[in-house]
Amino acid sequence: MKHFLLITLLIAIKSLAFANTNNLIADTPAHGSVLLDTDGQPINAHGPGVMYHQGVYYLFGEIKNGKTWLVPGQNWEDYRVPAGGISCYSSTDLKHWKYRGIALKPVVNDPGNDLDTGRVIERPKVIYNEHTKKFVMWMHIDKNDYNYSRGGVAISDSPAGPYQYLGSIKPNDQMLRDMTLYKDDDGKAYLIYSSEDNNTMHVCLLNDDYLKPTTTYVRIFENQRRESPAVFKNKGKYYLITSGCSGWSPNAASYAVADNIMGPWIEQGNPCKGPYAEMTFFSQGAFVLPVISKPGKFIFMGDVWNKTDLEKSAYLWLPLSISNGEIEIKER
Ligand code: DGJ
Repeated sequence: MKHFLLITLLIAIKSLAFANTNNLIADTPAHGSVLLDTDGQPINAHGPGVMYHQGVYYLFGEIKNGKTWLVPGQNWEDYRVPAGGISCYSSTDLKHWKYRGIALKPVVNDPGNDLDTGRVIERPKVIYNEHTKKFVMWMHIDKNDYNYSRGGVAISDSPAGPYQYLGSIKPNDQMLRDMTLYKDDDGKAYLIYSSEDNNTMHVCLLNDDYLKPTTTYVRIFENQRRESPAVFKNKGKYYLITSGCSGWSPNAASYAVADNIMGPWIEQGNPCKGPYAEMTFFSQGAFVLPVISKPGKFIFMGDVWNKTDLEKSAYLWLPLSISNGEIEIKER
């Protein structure tokens, strides 16, 4: 409770102080802030992913719109907000973000539909398929109790959308919750997700059009209860940052390194350093963005959840450095 009050206070102070500035993407103030688009509107793109395509960065995220409520009868703080679909913003300098509209629209008053506003639509990620020439979006689709646990997939002919929803699946009949998507240099793509009731993560190879999981998958971090995977590659090595499982409340991140995305993944500990590192500076990771013009430079993108008013959740985007194979994420 003490931590929650502290976070709420910090978000409120930072939001007031920075609401009128257009922050550098890698320069959000300590403990996160609201970010504004080029029209001066708050960016609504939570649990984000970024795709770089032909000189432009496209940011996709969850639109959280409306009143937060607590799902009754759960044994955890299952706070929910209407799912507003997936937003898209674009930038060429990682500094100015133009709103490109709703990339994937939600559906209203159709409770049986995966995209109904009453469902959970989280952590969208987009990659481009060179063969089919389609942009492919994967996301976590769920119901209020998070037991539907499926991966949803949508496609588009243009990066900002609109995306056409194709449906959802449990890869190899396994649960899929917090997830990310990674396209490797050889064109192969992988889904990485919390599975087995969040106990174990899976890395699953997608088929050639990226629209279906294959039967090739590995179980990693067995019984370690990790979520919010964010993966990237540097100098031939794969890095995977994850959070612990504590609902919307912050906890310590940890990262693992591998020579092969299918493992073995070797745990390295907390990449965050300095005060509040044990709480990921009050955030939860969502994505690591490679800065294309500066090879070896990355941006850690985290969400600062405001669990009792989720649409007011803020962002923490920090430079991530790697030295001798070790990650360091610090607040300045
Ligand atoms: C933590 C996850 O990382 C979020 O994406 C969201 O699913 C919340 N749990 C729900 O409590």
